[in-house]
Amino acid sequence: MVIKAPMTGWLSDWANLLLRWAHFIAGIAWIGSSFYFIWLDRALAPPETPKPGVEGDLWMVHSGGFYQVEKRRPGPGEVPPVLHWFKWEAMLTWLTGIALLTLVFYLSSAYLLDPGVSRISRGAAIATGIAIVLFSWPVYDGLWRSSLARMPALANAISLLLLGAVTLLACRLFSGRAAFMHVGALLGTIMVANVWRRILPAQQEMLDATRAGRQADFTLGERAKQRSVHNSYVTFPLLFIMLSNHFPATYASPVNWLVLFLLFVAGAAVRHAMIGRGRGARWALAPAGLALAGAIFFATPKGAAARAGTAPSDSTPSFAAVRVVIAQRCQPCHSQYQSDHTFGPAPGGVTFDSPESVARLAERIRIRAVETKTMPLANKTGITDDERALLGRWIAAGAPLR
Ligand code: HEC
Repeated sequence: MVIKAPMTGWLSDWANLLLRWAHFIAGIAWIGSSFYFIWLDRALAPPETPKPGVEGDLWMVHSGGFYQVEKRRPGPGEVPPVLHWFKWEAMLTWLTGIALLTLVFYLSSAYLLDPGVSRISRGAAIATGIAIVLFSWPVYDGLWRSSLARMPALANAISLLLLGAVTLLACRLFSGRAAFMHVGALLGTIMVANVWRRILPAQQEMLDATRAGRQADFTLGERAKQRSVHNSYVTFPLLFIMLSNHFPATYASPVNWLVLFLLFVAGAAVRHAMIGRGRGARWALAPAGLALAGAIFFATPKGAAARAGTAPSDSTPSFAAVRVVIAQRCQPCHSQYQSDHTFGPAPGGVTFDSPESVARLAERIRIRAVETKTMPLANKTGITDDERALLGRWIAAGAPLR
C-alpha cells in the first residue's frame, strides 16, 4: 500500500501552528492544575478547631485576593450546588496531541521514517504507530487491575519493562524524532485514560452515592488516587518528550531508546524527590543524577563521528569544496531558491545562500551533519560519509572562507 502525503504547504503549516498552540495551552492548564492539587494536598493542615467532614484547610494569597480552601468528605445528601470538575484540560491536550501526531507523522511524509534506521513501508509504520498508541491503555490498565497490582513493586517493574520494550521497538522502526513522539503519545494516552476511565468515574460514583443520601465509599477515591500518582510520575518524562525534537543528540543517538529510557527514569525520580512521601524521598535525586549522567553519556557522539568534529587535521578542505557539498546536499531545502519545498521556506530558520551564513552556522552544521547525522533530513539528498567528514575537518580548522 502506498500512502501519499496529501498535507503540505501553508495549510499544514498553519494547522500545525494552531494545533501546537492549543496543545501547549491545554497541556499547561492540565499539568498546572494537577501540580496545584498535589501542592494543595501536601499543604493542607487539619483545622485548628475540628469541623465535621473537614480533613484540612488552608489560606492562600494570589494576585491580590485571599482564598480559603477546605478539603472535605461530603456526608450523605450533602451535594454542593455547583461543583467544579477538572477534566477537559486533559481531554483537549490529548485530542490536540493526537491531531498533531497525525498531521506531522502520518499526513506528511517528512518525519516518520529514516532509511538509516529501517526500511519499513509507510503503511506498516503508520499501522504500527497507531497500534502502539491504541494498545498501550488496555495493556497498562489490565496489568494494574489484575492481582499483580497488589504487588506494586512487581507491577512497576513490569510496567517499566514493557515501556522499555515499546521504546526499543519504536526506535528500531521509526526515525528518532517519530519514535520519541510515539512513546510520548503512548504515555499521554495512558494519562488521559487514567483520568477519564478511572479517576472521573470513581468521583462520579462517590457523588452519586452522596446525592442518593448514602454514605460514599471513599476507598474508591483512594484507588483512583493510585492512577493519579502514576500520572504524576509520567509528567516530567512526557514534558521532556515534548521538547525532545529540538535536541538531535538525544533522538539521533545510536542508542536513542536507552537515552529516552534513562531520561524517563531521571524525570520520574526527580518527581519522587519533589513530592514523594517520607524522609527517604530526597534520596531519589541520586538515581535521578545517575540516570541523567547515563543519558548524557549515551547521547554523546563517540568514535568516528566525534573525531571528525574535533580532531585537528593536516588537510583543511577548501571552502570551494565545502560549498559544493552544501549546494548539493543542503541547499535543496536550505535556500531561498529551494527545489524541495516539503518543509516550507528556510527549514529550521536556516538558509545557506551566502558564504557567511555557512560559516556562521558552522557549529550547527557540525552537530547536525557530522556528529548526529540528523541532516540532511532522513538523508534525503544522499550525503556520503566522506562528505560529512570533509565538513567536519573544515569546521575543526575554524571554518575558513578560503
Ligand atoms: C530534505 C530537506 C533538508 C535537507 C536536504 C537539509 N535539511 Fe537541514 N533542516 C531541514 C528541516 C525540516 C529542518 C527543521 C527541523 C529540524 O531542525 O530538524 C532543518 C534544520 C536545520 C538546521 C537548524 C536547526 C539546528 O539544529 O540548528 C540546520 C543547522 C540544518 N538543518 C543544517 C543542514 C545541513 C548542514 C544540511 C546539509 C548537510 C541540511 N540541513 C540539509 C530540512 C533539510
